[in-house]
Amino acid sequence: MDSLIFGSPAMQKPPVTPDSHIIFDSHAHYDDRAFDSDREAVLAALPDAGVCGVINCGVDIRSSQKALALAAQYPFLWAAVGIHGQEAGRAKPGDLDGLVPLLEEPRAVALGEIGLDYHYDDGAPRDVQRELLERQLAIAVERDVPVILHDREAHEDMWKLLQRYKPRGVMHCFSGSVEMARDLVGLGMYIGLGGAVTFKNARRPIEVAAWVPADRLLIETDAPYMTPAPFRGKRNSSALIPYTAEKIAQVRGITPEQVLRMTKENAKRLFGVECPA
Ligand code: NI
Repeated sequence: MDSLIFGSPAMQKPPVTPDSHIIFDSHAHYDDRAFDSDREAVLAALPDAGVCGVINCGVDIRSSQKALALAAQYPFLWAAVGIHGQEAGRAKPGDLDGLVPLLEEPRAVALGEIGLDYHYDDGAPRDVQRELLERQLAIAVERDVPVILHDREAHEDMWKLLQRYKPRGVMHCFSGSVEMARDLVGLGMYIGLGGAVTFKNARRPIEVAAWVPADRLLIETDAPYMTPAPFRGKRNSSALIPYTAEKIAQVRGITPEQVLRMTKENAKRLFGVECPA
């Protein structure tokens, strides 16, 4: 395994052998500046670490363009394009018009990362975030494109919009209760789980990991963020997904390999992609 990814001689043996290409990371940000110094080396090493698919999410027009450029370069990587609620304050009026042509690119397979983030007091105004999300949900439903959603401390407003638009898609980095997961799955949505399931105080993500129906679970990194234990605090990468899979497997009473195989099939179905041979 590559030292670029793990960087630690004390690394544990990964729970899955890297020669089986069964890791599908449904949410990452390799365009992030955290990868500026070694992006090509990190991405080139992923297939050898067992990665067969990555959805790279933009959060504004610029990062969506970067996601598309990466998708053109790596056959195992696809782009999601969208304008995140956090960027709503910085978004320009014409940005949504600029988004539609990006969505038409063949390597764009989803509209995301979009959503609502009410965590920061000085964040984008909530009404602006809601309008931006609503307009993008309308675009996604009209074009039958899956959405990749972010919801931080905005469950009520998110739920109202989802009931109204009923998009296909995934709630990424799901942090809610089993009851909320049940509502989303009832709408036909997928639940994305990542490194948070490995954190010491992870009670709700663990309950959700045990509950989600096998055909509705996706696994993700949110790289460079949300790094699973025992690498918490370091930069994340899709090659670390086996640690998240191991925890999910434990609570579901199956093997990490089974978790990876089912989440790979689910991602392929939702995004309509085939992993390169
Ligand atoms: Ni993200």
